[in-house]
Amino acid sequence: MSLLKRLGGAPQPSDGGAAAAPPSAPPPPENGALRSGGGITAPPPPPPEAMPRSAPVEQRAPQPAQGGGLSAALGLSAPSGGDVSMGATDQRVLELSLWIVDRIQGSMGNQTELKRTPESERLLQDRFTNYYRQSGINLSDSQVKKLYEMVTDELFGFGPIEPLLRDEANSEVMVNGPNTVYIEQKGKVILTPVRFANDDHVLKVIDRIIRPLGRRIDRKWPMVDARLPDGSRVNAIIPPCAIDGPTITIRKFSKKKLEVADLIKFGSMTEQMAEFLRACVVSRLNIVVSGGTGSGKTTLLNVLSNFIPEEERIVTIEDSAELKLGQDHVVRLEAKPAEVDGSGRVSINDLVINSLRMRPERVVIGECRGGETMAMLQAMNTGHDGSLTTLHANTPRDSCSRMETMAMMAGMDMPLKVIREQVASAIDLIVQQTRLEDGQRKVSYVTEVQGMEGDIIVLQDIFVLEMKGKTPEGRILTELKPTGTRPRFTSRLEAHGFKLPASVFGADVGNQRKPW
Ligand SMILES: Nc1ncnc2c1ncn2[C@@H]1O[C@H](COP(=O)(O)OP(=O)(O)OP(=O)(O)O)[C@@H](O)[C@H]1O
Ligand SMILES: [Mg+2]
Repeated sequence: MSLLKRLGGAPQPSDGGAAAAPPSAPPPPENGALRSGGGITAPPPPPPEAMPRSAPVEQRAPQPAQGGGLSAALGLSAPSGGDVSMGATDQRVLELSLWIVDRIQGSMGNQTELKRTPESERLLQDRFTNYYRQSGINLSDSQVKKLYEMVTDELFGFGPIEPLLRDEANSEVMVNGPNTVYIEQKGKVILTPVRFANDDHVLKVIDRIIRPLGRRIDRKWPMVDARLPDGSRVNAIIPPCAIDGPTITIRKFSKKKLEVADLIKFGSMTEQMAEFLRACVVSRLNIVVSGGTGSGKTTLLNVLSNFIPEEERIVTIEDSAELKLGQDHVVRLEAKPAEVDGSGRVSINDLVINSLRMRPERVVIGECRGGETMAMLQAMNTGHDGSLTTLHANTPRDSCSRMETMAMMAGMDMPLKVIREQVASAIDLIVQQTRLEDGQRKVSYVTEVQGMEGDIIVLQDIFVLEMKGKTPEGRILTELKPTGTRPRFTSRLEAHGFKLPASVFGADVGNQRKPW
C-alpha cells in the first residue's frame, strides 16, 4: 500500500499518546496549521504530550508555539488548498524530518542503525505515519512524500546529500558546512540548494560514514579519510581546522570506469597517443601521470595500467583503493590509518617497500605524496621497471621538482644532485593531465625524460595540447598534436615489437617538424 494511502487510510495505532483520529476529522479552526493540504486530510491536533519535548537535533527543538502546535512553531502552515512552498520553508521541513527521525530512533531503543529491508521499511512507514500525524502538520501529498524520503535518507543513508550521491550524473559532492553544498557534473562545479539543519547535523552524517569503519574524528584529530560502502572516497574535516563548519568531500566511485575508448571519445587523448602510450606501458617504461587535483590522474593511471599484459604479476598500492584493473593476476594493497592511540599506521612507503618482496612484475602506486617517492625511484632504478604512479604537479618540469622534494621527505641524507639524477634515470615518461576551465579533462603533455645535462633534467615533449579558441557557449577548443620529435626510447618500443609509424609522432605534418 502506498505511503500516501496509508496516511489517508485507517487510523494507525498511536505510540506516543497522540490521538489517532480518522483522516476525515475536520481540523480545529484554532490550530492554524491544520488546514487542508492537497488531498491529505489533516488529523486533529495532537495532545500536548505528543509534541516534541526532546530536540530532534541538539539545540534545535522545534518549540511548539502557544496554541499553534508544532506546525505553527515550524512555520509550516499550509496556505489553504495549496502546497507549502518548499522554497520558503525548506529548512523547517528539514527540521520536521529530523524531529520525526529523532522520535523513530528514540522508539528503537539502542538499535539506531537501520538496514534497508522490506521489514524495516514497513516498520518505518508505520512509525513515520504515526509521528507525522502527531506533529499536527498538514502537508500536501507531494510534500509528505518528500518528507518521507528525507526521513528514510536520514535513517538509511547520509541525510540531505543522499539524493546527490544517488544521482549518477554527479561525480563529486562537496559539503562546505551546513549551508553550502556543491556538486560536480560533467566537470563543472555547481552550487545546490541542499542544506543541513546545522553543524551537528553534518557531524551526524560524518559519524554515520566513519563509525562502521571503526574510525573517529574529534577536535584532537579533526580530519579523516574513509570510503563509502559503494567505494566512493570521502574526506571529512571539522572545526577547529575547518573554520566554516564541518566539511565533507566525496569523490563518487563511478561504477563504469572510464576506458581508453572513452578518453578518445571525449577528446582527452587521440587514438595515436593512446597507441603510443600502450606501447610505452607494454615496453615497461616507468611512467608518471602528473596533474592538479581532480584533473583525471587516477582515471588515466587506471587506463594505462590496463595496458599491462595479462601474464604479468601486478601489485597496486593505494591510499584508498580506486583502481580497477581488468587483469586477473593483481594483488591490491591499501594503506592503513593509525589506530585511535596513534599506533599501527601502515603507510604507502611501507607498502612500496613490502611490495618489492612480493615478486612484482609491475608496481602501480596510486599517488606519490611524500617519502614513498624515494622508495619508488630506487625500485625503478634497481630493476623494477614498468612502474606507474601519479603525483600532483602542474607541468612536467614541475613534476620533476615535486619528485625531488618528495624524495627528500624520506629523510635520507642525499645531496640534491644525486636525487635529481635518480629522478632522471628512473622516470622515462611524464603524462600531464589537465582540467580545463570549462571542465574538460585532457592530456596536455606527453614528455620524455631524456636524462641530465649538467645540473638540469632534460625533458622533450612528444605530444602537446594547443589552445585553439572558445565556442560561443564557452567550450574550449583544443588540439592534441605530436611535436614531430621521436622519443629516444623508440628502440625500446621496437624491441617489444612496436614499430610505430612516423605519422604517430607527426613526421608527415609538414616541413616545420623536426626530421629524425
Ligand atoms: N578524461 C576525462 N574526461 C572526463 N572526465 C574525466 C576524465 N578523467 C577523469 N574524469 C572524471 O573526473 C573526476 C576526477 O577524476 P580522477 O579521480 O581520476 O582525478 P584525480 O586527478 O585522480 O583526482 P585527485 O587529485 O582528487 O586524486 C572523476 O569523476 C572522473 O570520472
Ligand atoms: Mg586521484
